[in-house]
Amino acid sequence: MAIERTLSIIKPDATRRNITGKINMRFEEAGLRVVAQRRIRLTRPQAEAFYAVHAERSFFNDLCAFMISGPVVVQVLEGENAVQKNRDIMGATNPANAKPGSIRRDFGESIEANSVHGSDSAETAATEIAYFFGEIDIVG
Ligand code: CMP
Repeated sequence: MAIERTLSIIKPDATRRNITGKINMRFEEAGLRVVAQRRIRLTRPQAEAFYAVHAERSFFNDLCAFMISGPVVVQVLEGENAVQKNRDIMGATNPANAKPGSIRRDFGESIEANSVHGSDSAETAATEIAYFFGEIDIVG
């Protein structure tokens, strides 16, 4: 299995509750390494551009408003099969449908305030990582 990188965002509902460390522990216990990390406040244009693929969805405005409602932690996770592994650790988008023991099931508040974002494919991961980090920021 190849070593991959994926983009993760710890969302405002999680920074508000001061559980970024608990979430990082889930990644590390599963064998993923946090090889880049920055706590930022997204601007509206940044949130809209990041989620541009969802621009036509009914939830787009609410999603962007939520993502700028507080700080987020953007991070690069590295490890074997990192994209799929992170998706497994996160669980389903809607916390109500996520498996017990997954981040979204254990910490998510709603489908919007679901604590974490993770890239959905290796191709998306490359684009999403480059959106926030240069190669010089990533220390494996
Ligand atoms: P995320 O992985 O960050 O990608 C897009 C986000 O939109 C998703 O997680 C959810 O938090 C959010 N969202 C809000 N409403 C919906 C919905 N009805 N269906 C899918 N995603 C939604």
